[in-house]
Amino acid sequence: MFVKARTLVAALAAASNLSLVQGHLYVWGVYVNGVDQGTFNGIRTPAYNGPPPRGYANSPVKDLDSIDMRCNVLGDKQVPQTIKVAPGDNITLDWHHNNRTKADDVIDFSHHGPALVYLTPDPPTENSFVKIWEKGLYEYGSAPFAPGKWATTSDIKAKNGIMNFRIPAGLKAGFYLVRAEMIALHEADARFDLNPRRGAQFYPACIQLHVAGDGQVELPSGVSFPGAYKYSDPGVHYDIYCSTNSLATAPCTTTYQIPGPTVWSGAWPETTEVALGPVSGEVTAPRWSSWISNSVVTSATFVGTPAAPVIIATSTYSASWSQKYSAPTPTAA
Ligand SMILES: *[C@@H]1O[C@H](CO)[C@@H](O)[C@H](O)[C@H]1NC(C)=O
Ligand SMILES: *[C@@H]1O[C@H](CO)[C@@H](O)[C@H](O)[C@H]1NC(C)=O
Repeated sequence: MFVKARTLVAALAAASNLSLVQGHLYVWGVYVNGVDQGTFNGIRTPAYNGPPPRGYANSPVKDLDSIDMRCNVLGDKQVPQTIKVAPGDNITLDWHHNNRTKADDVIDFSHHGPALVYLTPDPPTENSFVKIWEKGLYEYGSAPFAPGKWATTSDIKAKNGIMNFRIPAGLKAGFYLVRAEMIALHEADARFDLNPRRGAQFYPACIQLHVAGDGQVELPSGVSFPGAYKYSDPGVHYDIYCSTNSLATAPCTTTYQIPGPTVWSGAWPETTEVALGPVSGEVTAPRWSSWISNSVVTSATFVGTPAAPVIIATSTYSASWSQKYSAPTPTAA
């Protein structure tokens, strides 16, 4: 059950003028063939606690054994809407940080790393997550300490939060979850299991899909979340400044191997840019710090200084993933 973090109001008030050190990006919208499906619709928004004005929260998941690696905090909770798609549809996810606007910074400029998309039947089972898209380091840096060009910062951030993928050809009809993910590697030269203040930061986001049509293609066996990634994976423990930093320590390599399995051969190797129609719905949501005392969070961190982080809110919840699909409860009229 959920434990409300009411006792932390005072601590929060005291900390609210301090800066946040971690990003809070998540998916705000889903376009199907360029048509927006409505802000937050179909998306299991992290620490979901109702539509605005209540707001949303997202801190990175760093514990690779946590159930939050699957679909982020409260990712087991269904949302009322399920997005209807067909095989071959072009899907565009709209990632943002503070606001669903062009002015939004999407992700901190330092949060270099890969971006990935998995697909699983809903609900997930053992080894049911199949990778259908990925992009990592695609251009090496040349200036001293230059990290090069990465999917998160040079591609998706530069395109105002846009991540494209395509529903596999002939995919069998049914209910699926998309698990989209951004990974920030700016502290990934350390391993979280050895140094919990640092380590790679994972931002998974899940979206409920209903695939229509008479396709016959079943997803192959994939990987599990948690379970797919290890602290020793070269794509999880990686120094992004290695290529030009002679002081870098192991593992130091200029090639980057994206974590997880290879992309399924049945997925589309190329994704295409789609012309996007107008945003439908909210473009703002209150800062999580304005509602945390009335919400459910597993943990949230405000920091006094980077050297002395202060955890101001921790509550417990146990994710309970169903073994079989049941239709979500529609939104009350
Ligand atoms: C998806 O994009 C591709 C490449 O532009 C296009 O050929 C295809 O028709 C699009 N699919 C749909 C369903 O619009
Ligand atoms: C988000 O949008 C709201 C409303 O326009 C604005 O007041 C706020 O400053 C924006 N936040 C950021 C961080 O840009």
